[in-house]
Amino acid sequence: MRIIIFGGTGLLGSDIAKVLKQGNDVIPFGSTDVDISKLEAVMHSVNFHKPDLVINCAAISDVDKCEENKELAYRVNAMGAKNVAIACNKTKSRLIHISTDYVFGGNKNTPYTEFDIPSPVNIYGATKLAGEEFIKTISTNFLIIRTAWLFGERRNHFVDYVIKSLHQGNEIIAVKDMTSSPTFSLDVAEMIKELIHTDEVGIFHMCNKGYCSRVELVEEIERILKKHTNVTVVNQSQWKRPAKRPVFSALRNYHLELINKDNMPGWRDALKRYIKYKYRG
Ligand SMILES: NC(=O)c1ccc[n+]([C@@H]2O[C@H](COP(=O)([O-])OP(=O)(O)OC[C@H]3O[C@@H](n4cnc5c(N)ncnc54)[C@H](OP(=O)(O)O)[C@@H]3O)[C@@H](O)[C@H]2O)c1
Repeated sequence: MRIIIFGGTGLLGSDIAKVLKQGNDVIPFGSTDVDISKLEAVMHSVNFHKPDLVINCAAISDVDKCEENKELAYRVNAMGAKNVAIACNKTKSRLIHISTDYVFGGNKNTPYTEFDIPSPVNIYGATKLAGEEFIKTISTNFLIIRTAWLFGERRNHFVDYVIKSLHQGNEIIAVKDMTSSPTFSLDVAEMIKELIHTDEVGIFHMCNKGYCSRVELVEEIERILKKHTNVTVVNQSQWKRPAKRPVFSALRNYHLELINKDNMPGWRDALKRYIKYKYRG
């Protein structure tokens, strides 16, 4: 299978490229190769390579950056998704688009399923939801995969911040009123590998099973590493950031459950594997 990955240089895209490389012709693009906010650039690359499958991991994934640069967020997360969908229709390529738990507003206290109605609380969530809407309207053969709180090898994230702080004995700031499903990017990549060999379409939640607050996540990393440092627990109101986060955005992989394919491991197991994989060789 020939597969283009937009955002193939990012945290998730690089793991998807690694996992799909075996047996497929994978073409990963970063923003300097193809800017997805430019329709002509996307059309040109898709037309040229004529892929069987396009995976769109490209996004402005920094939640605060989206709040501060709303136009850029709409250009990449919403218009970029639209451009990719238009190009895929032209070449009849299947499209897998990556989205987020942040399309949800946080008023529930049980994990969101694919049948819950999104209501984002920040610009990032709003632009990602707009991207989903474009894909649902334009694309005839698509999967939208919503994931959450990713950790993986490619770049720094909250889990790495905690590990580094524990090693250096630095203070950790953990927000109490933020709960979601921490997810290992490699597990998402493996699950995508399974789904590409099916005829499935529609929206799929794809997270490691279970959920926790940021504080519980820090506690679990401390348990795994058997290290402790000073943890300052704050509320979002004390943690001054440009973008508000949903208080609760955990996802349930309900669509995968309904087709008997929810093989995603639990988040504690995923965290242990990630730490072993990245930090203990
Ligand atoms: N990280 C999370 O916790 C999380 C949680 C839920 C959902 N998601 C979603 O998962 C997907 C992947 O996120 P990630 O964390 O892997 O992102 P990331 O590490 O920030 O990588 C973003 C990727 O998008 C590319 N990109 C940015 N602007 C672009 C543009 N204008 N045109 C083309 N490519 C562009 C970047 O290319 P360069 O390397 O060239 O900059 C990079 O490859 C996104 O859809 C995100 O919304 C992420």
